Amino acid sequence: MKANILVVDDTPDNLRLLIDMLAKQGYKIRAASNGRHALKTAQANPPDLILLDIKMPGMDGFEVCEQLKTDERTRDIPVIFISALDGVFDKVRAFSLGGVDYITKPFQAEEVLARVETHLGLQRLQKELEEKNAELSQLNVELVRASRHKDEFLANMSHELRNPLNVVLGMSEALQDGVYGELNDRVLNSVHRIEESGRHLLQLITDILDLSKIGAGKLELVIAPVSVKLVCEASLMFIKQLAHKKRIKVVSTCDQNITTFHADELRIKQVLVNLLSNAVKFTPEGKTVGLEVDGNPEQQVINFTVWDTGIGIAKEDMERLFQPFEQLDRTRSQHHEGTGLGLSLVYRLVELHGGSISVESEVDKGSRFTVSLPWKESGDRERKEEDRETGRWGDRESRDSTPHPPISPSPQ
Ligand SMILES: Nc1ncnc2c1ncn2[C@@H]1O[C@H](COP(=O)(O)OP(=O)(O)OP(=O)(O)O)[C@@H](O)[C@H]1O
Ligand SMILES: [Mg+2]
Repeated sequence: MKANILVVDDTPDNLRLLIDMLAKQGYKIRAASNGRHALKTAQANPPDLILLDIKMPGMDGFEVCEQLKTDERTRDIPVIFISALDGVFDKVRAFSLGGVDYITKPFQAEEVLARVETHLGLQRLQKELEEKNAELSQLNVELVRASRHKDEFLANMSHELRNPLNVVLGMSEALQDGVYGELNDRVLNSVHRIEESGRHLLQLITDILDLSKIGAGKLELVIAPVSVKLVCEASLMFIKQLAHKKRIKVVSTCDQNITTFHADELRIKQVLVNLLSNAVKFTPEGKTVGLEVDGNPEQQVINFTVWDTGIGIAKEDMERLFQPFEQLDRTRSQHHEGTGLGLSLVYRLVELHGGSISVESEVDKGSRFTVSLPWKESGDRERKEEDRETGRWGDRESRDSTPHPPISPSPQ
């Protein structure tokens, strides 16, 4: 549809000339011969563009423009001023009042049309842009809201799921302990499987909640000095049973120069337990897995390396490794339970700590996952003293997620 243009000029000849010129191009034209009339017409039915003569008796073009710009309805209409070539014409004023351009009398048809078209085009683009922006910000508001709802929903659901699940786990433990009398082997075996499946489910719920919290930026780290030795020992404890069952040897080495570093102890344990359980899970019976810790004072990092002598990871699978729910080659790892959330959680927890993770692996030889975390050799020691004095050791009670690292399901 052709644009709607308002032409304002007090000289009838000029007015007629402009109207003819523009009407020939198919524009819809309205005319006004003085300022007041122009304002009324523009306000009643805002045009797409205004050609406005500057020199008019009574209200001049500048004044009309000023008033157009103060009115919500007409503020955004582009105004092109018309001035006499010989007249004294204040261009600076014209632009500072919000005019977009000017044309001079006597008119040259091509010039008038070119300027009109340019500004109509610009105006259209501007409008489209504004609409798109409005749409985008509306979308953004909706996205933020949806994401918050998702987060709240997941938090609520996992709470609701965890309570009955804890009853299932508690009861199956009690049954296995003989609290309700002796059970025969078949029943005991079934109850044991109920417990294992329950633990698996609990782990899944916890992982999903953690991931959604990280995604929503709501997972807060409780940073405090962490003893390297203790965090390693605690993490190794979690895989001991599983390793023993598969007759896998677990070795650990620790750089004697590092005693503490600053991190969220619980989350670091979660990282190490996830990596160690993978190592055990994807390593055949009778082989070896290990944990190495070393510090690099120059780079100010502490490296935790979990290595194994297992099935390894193909090069083409590397980039999918840290994606949620990704489990690689089913033919090689099909015997292993899991949900594929472990490594994506590890990745994000390490990232939250300002660290990084790298992988080296060779199919059928084994893998090495190295987590590098920020570490200050002497600073950490000093800060430790400081924290002791002020009692800032992190507030474990206030967090609402499960306060223990994952327990990996045993392989089938
Ligand atoms: N040490 C490893 N050796 C070989 N493959 C591995 C190793 N660690 C991870 N993978 C591969 O990466 C996939 C993703 O690992 P991730 O820990 O995220 O999931 P998962 O162990 O299958 O399940 P979950 O940890 O959620 O119980 C695994 O399914 C496996 O295919
Ligand atoms: Mg895993």
